[in-house]
Amino acid sequence: MDDYDRREFLSLSLPSFLGVLTALPSLCALATRANAAEGRLPADGAMHWEAFLESVAKEAEKQHLDAWNQDAYVGKIAKLASRLHLEDPVLTEGLAQLAVRLKQGNVDFQYLEKRVDFALCLVQFDVDERIRPHDHPGMTGMILCASGEIETANFDPVELPDHETGANLQLLKLVEQATLKKNDISTLTAKARNIHTLRARKVTQLVDIFTPPYNDERAEQSRWFKLAPDPIEGHKDIFEAEVS
Ligand SMILES: [Fe+2]
Repeated sequence: MDDYDRREFLSLSLPSFLGVLTALPSLCALATRANAAEGRLPADGAMHWEAFLESVAKEAEKQHLDAWNQDAYVGKIAKLASRLHLEDPVLTEGLAQLAVRLKQGNVDFQYLEKRVDFALCLVQFDVDERIRPHDHPGMTGMILCASGEIETANFDPVELPDHETGANLQLLKLVEQATLKKNDISTLTAKARNIHTLRARKVTQLVDIFTPPYNDERAEQSRWFKLAPDPIEGHKDIFEAEVS
């Protein structure tokens, strides 16, 4: 497997980042299969890994229906994720591997599952590490905090009749702000909260589910933003952002 410098990883444009991801072999998916459903549900009723994946897959299938409701979908998979047994061996091993790589200064993300309908990725942040604002074109996202503490902020693009934005600038409205701790969840859909930024207060591990997953087209359409430090005049939650 190729190794990528983690600083480089964080400064990669999204298309390059996704190129890196697609280059990673899906060894973990094989491990998941090998572990399949032998596991019983833990005593507290939490879901083991394979049951969780299959339940997500069943929901993700519905994206092909005309009437797919993304808000309802992210709500459902968030509910499933809140029941996920975080000490499941597939997950703890994946997170442990990630922690080792972080110490070695290498990659701090890893796909655990990549299917046609959705992808599940683990991401680890160092203290104070951040990912600047970016969007997820046509996609939904669900983030489950597996450990640590991380600030999230979500934005929607807006237009104001009385505000002219120059070329390459976009107005972004802050629509949600949270600090996620273990078991906390944040979601976004193609139409709501689609742009987000994250900053870790502690070493933090996240489980991300993208539905549908990134493909070449969605990767190419993705945009990163440089947010102005202060909101525009007369609005406490609308910021100018440079699109890159
Ligand atoms: Fe993201």
